[in-house]
Amino acid sequence: MVKDKIVEALNHQLNSELFSSYKYLAMAAYLENENLSGFSHWMQLQSQEEYGHAMKFYGYILQVGGKVNLQNITASKETWKSVSDVFEETLKHEQEVTKSIYDIMDLTLADKDHATSIFLQWFVNEQVEEEATADKILKKIKLVGDTKNGLFLLDREMGMRAAK
Ligand code: FEO
Repeated sequence: MVKDKIVEALNHQLNSELFSSYKYLAMAAYLENENLSGFSHWMQLQSQEEYGHAMKFYGYILQVGGKVNLQNITASKETWKSVSDVFEETLKHEQEVTKSIYDIMDLTLADKDHATSIFLQWFVNEQVEEEATADKILKKIKLVGDTKNGLFLLDREMGMRAAK
Protein backbone atom coordinates (compact mmCIF):
# COMPACT_ATOMS: atom_id res chain seq x y z
CA MET A 1 0.00 0.00 0.00
CA VAL A 2 1.49 3.30 -1.07
CA LYS A 3 0.86 6.08 1.44
CA ASP A 4 -1.00 9.24 0.43
CA LYS A 5 2.04 11.47 1.05
CA ILE A 6 4.06 9.35 -1.39
CA VAL A 7 1.30 9.43 -4.02
CA GLU A 8 1.30 13.21 -3.56
CA ALA A 9 5.08 13.35 -4.12
CA LEU A 10 4.73 11.13 -7.21
CA ASN A 11 2.03 13.45 -8.57
CA HIS A 12 4.31 16.41 -7.95
CA GLN A 13 7.05 14.68 -9.92
CA LEU A 14 4.58 13.87 -12.71
CA ASN A 15 3.90 17.60 -12.98
CA SER A 16 7.65 18.39 -12.93
CA GLU A 17 8.32 15.96 -15.77
CA LEU A 18 5.57 17.60 -17.83
CA PHE A 19 7.15 20.98 -17.06
CA SER A 20 10.53 19.59 -18.24
CA SER A 21 8.85 18.52 -21.47
CA TYR A 22 7.41 22.05 -21.87
CA LYS A 23 10.73 23.70 -21.10
CA TYR A 24 12.63 21.58 -23.64
CA LEU A 25 9.97 22.16 -26.29
CA ALA A 26 10.34 25.92 -25.78
CA MET A 27 14.11 25.52 -26.08
CA ALA A 28 13.64 23.51 -29.31
CA ALA A 29 11.57 26.35 -30.78
CA TYR A 30 14.18 28.93 -29.74
CA LEU A 31 16.97 26.86 -31.32
CA GLU A 32 14.98 26.47 -34.57
CA ASN A 33 14.52 30.25 -34.67
CA GLU A 34 18.31 30.54 -34.33
CA ASN A 35 18.70 28.26 -37.40
CA LEU A 36 20.20 25.50 -35.28
CA SER A 37 17.95 22.75 -36.57
CA GLY A 38 20.16 19.92 -35.29
CA PHE A 39 20.11 21.26 -31.74
CA SER A 40 16.39 21.86 -32.11
CA HIS A 41 15.83 18.25 -33.21
CA TRP A 42 17.83 17.01 -30.21
CA MET A 43 15.75 19.16 -27.86
CA GLN A 44 12.44 18.02 -29.40
CA LEU A 45 13.43 14.42 -28.69
CA GLN A 46 14.39 15.44 -25.17
CA SER A 47 10.96 16.99 -24.73
CA GLN A 48 9.35 13.73 -25.88
CA GLU A 49 11.54 11.76 -23.50
CA GLU A 50 10.35 13.92 -20.60
CA TYR A 51 6.75 13.25 -21.59
CA GLY A 52 7.65 9.56 -21.44
CA HIS A 53 9.03 10.06 -17.92
CA ALA A 54 5.80 11.77 -16.90
CA MET A 55 3.82 8.82 -18.25
CA LYS A 56 5.87 6.38 -16.17
CA PHE A 57 4.73 8.26 -13.04
CA TYR A 58 1.17 8.39 -14.39
CA GLY A 59 1.17 4.63 -14.95
CA TYR A 60 2.70 3.80 -11.58
CA ILE A 61 0.30 6.01 -9.61
CA LEU A 62 -2.67 4.27 -11.25
CA GLN A 63 -1.10 0.82 -10.85
CA VAL A 64 -0.89 1.27 -7.07
CA GLY A 65 -4.47 2.51 -6.92
CA GLY A 66 -3.58 6.18 -6.43
CA LYS A 67 -5.34 9.18 -7.89
CA VAL A 68 -3.64 11.04 -10.71
CA ASN A 69 -3.80 14.72 -9.94
CA LEU A 70 -2.94 16.82 -12.98
CA GLN A 71 -2.04 20.37 -12.02
CA ASN A 72 -1.35 23.47 -14.13
CA ILE A 73 1.97 23.34 -15.93
CA THR A 74 4.05 26.46 -15.38
CA ALA A 75 4.73 28.29 -18.65
CA SER A 76 8.30 28.07 -19.84
CA LYS A 77 10.33 31.13 -20.66
CA GLU A 78 10.65 31.58 -24.43
CA THR A 79 14.07 32.94 -25.12
CA TRP A 80 17.70 32.41 -24.17
CA LYS A 81 20.91 34.32 -24.76
CA SER A 82 22.69 31.60 -26.74
CA VAL A 83 22.94 27.86 -27.29
CA SER A 84 25.41 27.75 -24.42
CA ASP A 85 22.84 29.49 -22.19
CA VAL A 86 20.28 26.81 -23.22
CA PHE A 87 22.55 23.94 -22.17
CA GLU A 88 23.70 25.64 -18.97
CA GLU A 89 20.03 25.87 -18.00
CA THR A 90 19.43 22.26 -19.11
CA LEU A 91 22.23 20.96 -16.89
CA LYS A 92 21.03 23.03 -13.93
CA HIS A 93 17.48 21.83 -14.48
CA GLU A 94 18.53 18.17 -14.61
CA GLN A 95 20.49 18.62 -11.37
CA GLU A 96 17.30 19.95 -9.75
CA VAL A 97 15.33 16.97 -11.11
CA THR A 98 17.91 14.61 -9.61
CA LYS A 99 17.49 16.28 -6.23
CA SER A 100 13.74 16.00 -6.50
CA ILE A 101 13.94 12.26 -7.35
CA TYR A 102 16.31 11.72 -4.40
CA ASP A 103 13.85 13.48 -2.08
CA ILE A 104 11.05 11.09 -3.08
CA MET A 105 13.44 8.14 -2.79
CA ASP A 106 14.23 9.28 0.81
CA LEU A 107 10.51 9.36 1.59
CA THR A 108 10.02 5.81 0.29
CA LEU A 109 13.04 4.50 2.21
CA ALA A 110 11.83 6.11 5.44
CA ASP A 111 8.44 4.51 4.85
CA LYS A 112 9.88 1.10 3.87
CA ASP A 113 7.93 1.40 0.62
CA HIS A 114 10.18 -1.00 -1.28
CA ALA A 115 8.00 -1.19 -4.39
CA THR A 116 8.13 2.57 -4.96
CA SER A 117 11.86 2.64 -4.20
CA ILE A 118 12.42 0.06 -6.91
CA PHE A 119 10.20 2.02 -9.31
CA LEU A 120 12.28 5.15 -8.60
CA GLN A 121 15.57 3.34 -9.11
CA TRP A 122 15.09 3.62 -12.89
CA PHE A 123 14.93 7.42 -12.52
CA VAL A 124 18.01 7.50 -10.28
CA ASN A 125 19.98 5.76 -13.05
CA GLU A 126 18.38 7.88 -15.78
CA GLN A 127 19.41 11.08 -14.00
CA VAL A 128 23.07 10.00 -14.03
CA GLU A 129 22.78 9.73 -17.81
CA GLU A 130 20.77 12.97 -18.17
CA GLU A 131 23.30 15.04 -16.24
CA ALA A 132 26.29 13.46 -17.99
CA THR A 133 24.79 14.08 -21.44
CA ALA A 134 23.93 17.73 -20.75
CA ASP A 135 27.39 18.29 -19.27
CA LYS A 136 29.11 16.70 -22.27
CA ILE A 137 27.16 18.80 -24.78
CA LEU A 138 27.84 21.98 -22.80
CA LYS A 139 31.57 21.21 -22.76
CA LYS A 140 31.55 20.66 -26.54
CA ILE A 141 29.73 23.99 -27.07
CA LYS A 142 32.34 25.72 -24.92
CA LEU A 143 35.11 23.99 -26.83
CA VAL A 144 33.96 25.37 -30.19
CA GLY A 145 33.10 28.74 -28.63
CA ASP A 146 31.64 31.23 -31.07
CA THR A 147 33.29 29.75 -34.15
CA LYS A 148 30.67 29.38 -36.86
CA ASN A 149 32.31 26.27 -38.36
CA GLY A 150 32.47 24.53 -34.98
CA LEU A 151 28.85 25.28 -34.19
CA PHE A 152 27.80 24.15 -37.68
CA LEU A 153 29.52 20.78 -37.22
CA LEU A 154 28.13 20.37 -33.72
CA ASP A 155 24.65 21.18 -34.99
CA ARG A 156 25.00 18.41 -37.55
CA GLU A 157 26.07 15.95 -34.85
CA MET A 158 23.11 16.92 -32.63
CA GLY A 159 20.76 16.40 -35.58
CA MET A 160 21.74 12.74 -35.72
CA ARG A 161 20.16 11.87 -32.37
CA ALA A 162 17.72 9.02 -32.81
CA ALA A 163 14.58 8.50 -30.74
CA LYS A 164 14.98 5.82 -28.03
FE1 FEO B 1 12.90 13.46 -16.61
FE2 FEO B 1 15.41 14.89 -17.75
O1 FEO B 1 14.52 14.14 -16.31
